[in-house]
Amino acid sequence: MRTGLNSWLYISESTLSFGETPSAIEAIVKVSRSRNATLDVTGALLFSGTRFVQFLEGPFDSISALQASIRNDARHRNVTTLSVRVLNERQFGGWALAFEGESAFVEKVLDKAMAHHQAGSRQGVDSLLTLLKRFS
Ligand SMILES: Cc1cc2nc3c(=O)[nH]c(=O)nc-3n(C[C@H](O)[C@H](O)[C@H](O)COP(=O)(O)O)c2cc1C
Repeated sequence: MRTGLNSWLYISESTLSFGETPSAIEAIVKVSRSRNATLDVTGALLFSGTRFVQFLEGPFDSISALQASIRNDARHRNVTTLSVRVLNERQFGGWALAFEGESAFVEKVLDKAMAHHQAGSRQGVDSLLTLLKRFS
């Protein structure tokens, strides 16, 4: 649907080396803060140490533009869409970097969500949204 509030949830694998990660995350956060505000996009980004999980919500054109940029970004690969949905209301009040750093707990939740996704189940989606809200 081209109108309404659209959302995108994905998981990707970081291509960043341990040393370059902090400054790369800083750069992503900086561009995201201003660009997402301009695009009327809210959401959260979480980094587990090896993977990213991100939820974005906003107007259709804004989410499409961000999808194109983010899919093309060499700082990660295997961008896997877990959910694309039209929402009734926003889930996030602003845009946040939910968490930065290594986390076995986060890795576990991501593993489970990916397993659900591969099995054709949406069950992982809610657990990821809960996780993002908890850290944001
Ligand atoms: C994991 C990840 C998440 C990102 N999230 C956002 C985001 O929420 N908003 C944003 O504007 N750019 C985000 N970026 C950066 C974009 O990929 C892109 O570099 C930036 O928007 C500039 O767009 P452009 O390269 O098309 O000019 C993200 C990049 C990565 C690797």
